[in-house]
Amino acid sequence: MKNLRALAARVVFQVLEKGVSLSVALPEQQQRLGSGKDKALLAELSYGVMRHLPQLDKLVSDCMSKPLKGKQRIVHQLLLVGCYQLYFTRIPGHAAISETAEACRQLKFEGLVKVVNGVLRNLQRNQKPLPEDSETLAFNTPAWLIKRLKAAYPEAWQEVIAQSHQRPPMWLRNNQLSQTREQYLALLDEQEIAATPGANEDAILLESPKDVGLLPGFADGAASVQDGAAQWAASLLAPEADELILDACAAPGGKSCHLLESEPSIDLVAVDFDAKRLERVQQNLDRLKLKAKLVHGDAAKIDAWWQGDKFDRILLDAPCSATGVIRRHPDIKWLRKQADIEELATLQSQILDHCWQWLKPGGTLLYATCSILPQENAEQIKAFLARTQDATLVPIAQQQNCDDIGWQITPGQDNMDGFYYARLVKG
Ligand SMILES: C[S@@+](CC[C@H](N)C(=O)[O-])C[C@H]1O[C@@H](n2cnc3c(N)ncnc32)[C@H](O)[C@@H]1O
Repeated sequence: MKNLRALAARVVFQVLEKGVSLSVALPEQQQRLGSGKDKALLAELSYGVMRHLPQLDKLVSDCMSKPLKGKQRIVHQLLLVGCYQLYFTRIPGHAAISETAEACRQLKFEGLVKVVNGVLRNLQRNQKPLPEDSETLAFNTPAWLIKRLKAAYPEAWQEVIAQSHQRPPMWLRNNQLSQTREQYLALLDEQEIAATPGANEDAILLESPKDVGLLPGFADGAASVQDGAAQWAASLLAPEADELILDACAAPGGKSCHLLESEPSIDLVAVDFDAKRLERVQQNLDRLKLKAKLVHGDAAKIDAWWQGDKFDRILLDAPCSATGVIRRHPDIKWLRKQADIEELATLQSQILDHCWQWLKPGGTLLYATCSILPQENAEQIKAFLARTQDATLVPIAQQQNCDDIGWQITPGQDNMDGFYYARLVKG
């Protein structure tokens, strides 16, 4: 089956009904398509439905006399894809409707083709405005998350949500072992790829996203794709020559590789709980011709897999809600549940306490998350400082306020993802 709308319905079904992340579900269906253009349209439809889910759901549900249940649920998801095309794309209405009806046939729901046609024609004819009669609808965000963002950002929460719906830019990290950033910018210029340097020493912001195959020397490790916010980890941890460094939650390895590029003489131990994701660390190291000791292990049980010295510096890029990267992964809004936040905060504090025991006196631990919720960030670190006598917080120059605990970056700030850093020194 190659009908693009049917594949989109499958992606949406996998995410919403099976809890599979978009970054897994989408490539699985994209590989069935031949052309890059079709793959891009499949991505556009799948991402679009995730971004606007409550509004699409309401528009479609209002046209149905009774909801589709059980196995027929995928036809509801197909209708969301159809509705997205009518409201948010330039695809002519008649083409969107006939292709979506054909998708229904291909999904083997011949008996529902009339329903699909009827609902989509109804939507096209009536052209109702996008519903905004609740905050969830108006902001396309679950109510629990809106509540937490209001509490965390009483002035800026609407802007934080608006930024989380923007299409994210593409950032590159120049590999300083291959060439200087100026040289790489010149190589991009030769290929007519418009780019500007970011605030961080290796960061490059592309004017528009590009396939990595078009980037000069990408296969040979000249550059990597990494958001501008994530690139601050290496300079904030600032490893020195020959130090023993732990990357406690390393996969897929973006920050591990950057640490090695910035100081190749370090002894880097890169750990992750997830064996499959750890394979990606090795692939990234191979492409960049870097070496680290990879461990499949638990960062909250270092004793179980490490008999060596304590570490000079530790990067703890903790598992988190990923609420800072919703613009890249809009499915997070629907996959994350309110109760996850407290569970994640507990897990983060356990890993943090344990890693701290493995840090040398005088050593630095950099705590990082791609969350924008204080429970996982400033409040987490405040509680850690209160219970850990030998921990001192070292302010980060970019912090907005010297009273802030750590550096909270909000989505879209200087074009970066939402991110958090706190630098702690022992003793
Ligand atoms: C935010 S991601 C890390 C991203 C990575 N630092 C990078 O820059 O590419 C968090 C990682 O923590 C891992 N993880 C979760 N719990 C863990 C634990 N208890 N011990 C080690 N790794 C864990 C997850 O598998 C996930 O790969």
